[in-house]
Amino acid sequence: MSFHKKTIRDIKLQGKAVLVRVDYNVPLENGKISDDYRIQKSLPTIQYLLKQKCRVILCSHMGRPERSDDRSFSLELCAKRLGKLLDKRVQFVDDCVGAEVTAAAKSLKQGEILLLENLRYHKEEEANNDRFAKDLAGLAEVFVQDAFGVVHRAHASTDAITRHLPSVAGLLLEKEVDTITEVIKNPKRPLMAIIGGAKISDKIDILNRFIDIADFVAVGGAMSNTFLLAQDIEIGKSLAEAAEVPLAEEIIEKAQAKSKKQRFTFYVPQDGVVAKKIDSRVKTRIVDWDAHVVASIENYPSRPPRRSGEVLESEMILDIGPFSGAFIAGSMQLASTVIWNGTMGVTETDGLQGPVGPFAHGTDMIVDAMLGEYGHKPFTVVGGGDTVGYIEERGLVENFGHVSTGGGASMELMSGKKLPGVEALLDK
Ligand code: 3PG
Repeated sequence: MSFHKKTIRDIKLQGKAVLVRVDYNVPLENGKISDDYRIQKSLPTIQYLLKQKCRVILCSHMGRPERSDDRSFSLELCAKRLGKLLDKRVQFVDDCVGAEVTAAAKSLKQGEILLLENLRYHKEEEANNDRFAKDLAGLAEVFVQDAFGVVHRAHASTDAITRHLPSVAGLLLEKEVDTITEVIKNPKRPLMAIIGGAKISDKIDILNRFIDIADFVAVGGAMSNTFLLAQDIEIGKSLAEAAEVPLAEEIIEKAQAKSKKQRFTFYVPQDGVVAKKIDSRVKTRIVDWDAHVVASIENYPSRPPRRSGEVLESEMILDIGPFSGAFIAGSMQLASTVIWNGTMGVTETDGLQGPVGPFAHGTDMIVDAMLGEYGHKPFTVVGGGDTVGYIEERGLVENFGHVSTGGGASMELMSGKKLPGVEALLDK
């Protein structure tokens, strides 16, 4: 395995006060936690520390609060949910530094847990302030970084704190970094990457990286509209980044150059589900513009778009169409590894009779293919907040190979970037 940092298994922790950075930035809906995947994934580290009779002090951020008195960003609900999951009392204190917090931490007995209030109620957290980090460090003897979702940020609780305490990785962080690094460095081929989401500008690094290392790259979601624009295809009032068309052209050129040298396919949707409004009651239609394989091996020669349909000025492309779904799902039958980041359409629109809305069918088809519904089941790695939320909502998380707790962090790791919150930990 490739993880080169010390973990909680590498140091003596028996009976110690341990400050653990977790990522409990979980989605809330109507004042309730709608998805506790990140809390569940923090359990192995916490249970390990409890077995070592540690005094466990947890800290996290939640959202991006602008004011410290905005209680809608409080972590109190997470303390309750964690207590339920562990079947154990989790104490909560309504700040993360100060006299009251110090007292709560000091009175903690071995095998007890305390969750601190949202770190981001103090602007010093995001400013990577050393004084604030020192105050946090004063609560414990050892620091454990287990918040994979936030290690791409150099904040006080991911970076500065490591200058004040011996700092090692938790089990979740180790597993995330190991799995994702391994699949990028040494994938079982053919490797397929499916990249969706709204903006090319957000995914440029990951797109470039996958064009370098994958055997097949498919794009979907609103991001693919910019690739359609780059091929002069009408997209009506669909979301797109007109300013990024040159970037899309550059990516297409890079993909074409690679496909001339080796077996490689770059696929942009050839059809889409269009509607005039994002609403499950509006009429939808399927438009086939047939510009699909932009770069590929000889089996799918690239060619100028043949337009068998046009997206009207008043319409938006809100999902990939059935041909595109079938093409990606079919190609996946040859893939040994699939990395998926970003949904193919506007999956968050509920249907008239349930959660599967009119713009989720493309994503569902791809999910079915990843889970082996068409015969072959590749090893799957899923990253990205919206993508994970989607499969969580459908209760499918356990069926994938690896579902990352990180959005931005998993993308940066896949793009080959160093993660400051990992770099700062003790070397093995
Ligand atoms: C996430 O949800 O990606 C992490 O919790 C990081 O949150 P941030 O983007 O607000 O730093």
